[in-house]
Amino acid sequence: MNMNTPIYNMLLKYSGKRPLPFHMPGHVMGRGLAGLLKDAGSLDITEIPGSDSLHDPDGVIKEAQNLAARAFGAANTYFSVNGSSLGIHAMIHAAIRPGGKILVNRDAHTSVINAISILRAEPVYILPDYDKNTHLNLGCRQDDLISVLSQYRDIEAVFMTRPNYYGVASHIGSMIEAARSRGIPFLVDEAHGAHFSFSGLFPQPVLELGADACVQSLHKTLPAMTQTALVHEGSSSLLDKGRLFKYMSMLQTTSPSYVLMASIDIAREIMEQRGEELYDALYKRIEVFGRELSKIDGVRRIKPDNPSVDTDFSRIVLSFESSGLTGFEAERIFRESSGIVAEMADYYHLVLIATPFHTDEDFEALLKGIQEVARHGKGTFDDKFSFVGIPDSLPERAMNPGDAIEMPAEYIDLNSASGRISAATITPYPPGIPLVYPGEVISGELVRMLSEIQGSGGRVHGIMDGRIQVIVKA
Ligand SMILES: Cc1ncc(COP(=O)(O)O)c(C=O)c1O
Repeated sequence: MNMNTPIYNMLLKYSGKRPLPFHMPGHVMGRGLAGLLKDAGSLDITEIPGSDSLHDPDGVIKEAQNLAARAFGAANTYFSVNGSSLGIHAMIHAAIRPGGKILVNRDAHTSVINAISILRAEPVYILPDYDKNTHLNLGCRQDDLISVLSQYRDIEAVFMTRPNYYGVASHIGSMIEAARSRGIPFLVDEAHGAHFSFSGLFPQPVLELGADACVQSLHKTLPAMTQTALVHEGSSSLLDKGRLFKYMSMLQTTSPSYVLMASIDIAREIMEQRGEELYDALYKRIEVFGRELSKIDGVRRIKPDNPSVDTDFSRIVLSFESSGLTGFEAERIFRESSGIVAEMADYYHLVLIATPFHTDEDFEALLKGIQEVARHGKGTFDDKFSFVGIPDSLPERAMNPGDAIEMPAEYIDLNSASGRISAATITPYPPGIPLVYPGEVISGELVRMLSEIQGSGGRVHGIMDGRIQVIVKA
């Protein structure tokens, strides 16, 4: 394959000249590294004549970023060597002023609340819909977004996650229009949807739906190395010109890894050249897999049956409820009996990421593994969390998260936390939506719910040994 990969080609050319480097990094193109890392290190260079600069690109990096912009349908694209997390920080910094208001889906990635906290900004949350049948979050509703936008006239930007971890992509086109009609930018965390641009079989990418900016983790679904991500600006972005690049540059290392940047370049090229064909083949493989799966007792593929969402066919969400197994139990059996390692498990589900680089044999092994898990089934499913849902309302806010994280904090017993202000984000699984963010008041009802979830064997991030971090009373 003739590769149009400017960064990778530059690296090959440079290492092919067998230079004598008296420059960074200290391992001297792999010499000082051990074992298998020697090979990886042979292309690990720094900024040298001809390698361009991520912070002032006008050579191979600019070329590679332009190629990515074209491939993903963006006006401008910037490389991130610190994942979507960095891109999320940059987008939020570019879109709102310090102390400004931003509308956010309540179940956003932790980098969102971190960026909001650093900016001392004020989040206005909307809760996602929760499908009690599949135990999946379906994304936020347009009605909620419109009502919040009309209630708070000073919201400066909207931030939404789409798709979510389970491959559920809500219909956000009309939400984007609603934000644009108010003249505020719509930012999207598309970390799990970098592959959407390369096949019509996937939900439409958000740039096509008019998002002002989005981030995508290439490393999650495309053939790219961990940490690689892209930040895109849409063709009619409402962000002030140059702001997104400015914050990408301010937040990112001045020594970006060329191995990572070359990996972005290569993933984009593979997808441009072969994406359509590769995803057609994967779709067919997964169809065959689905038919075979339906013949196995005790397992079910989960997809929300809801007209307001699309789903990513390559995200395989399984339930072993009819075998009497939780997602956690299924994950362990899978790993121990078949060596198959899932992406993620929760109480109800097992989540697998399928890619074009999985073979027919891999899917056969997967089916065998599933049979093995189902064989370990123990009868009826004891649904300990049927009482859990999405709360009807949000907790009272005593202060913004950015102020809360600066306050002196202490750990206290959960049972005595009623009425105190949280210093941490508390997220029970299920349903995987933060019940409390820093600065919010822990109600008696919330303590009861968290205790019940923990008592039933659920996991609650943010609570350690029954203790919760709260702000010290004045
Ligand atoms: C929805 C979502 N957004 C953002 C991120 C952060 O992505 P990255 O790991 O590329 O920084 C994650 C990571 O898991 C995620 O699940």
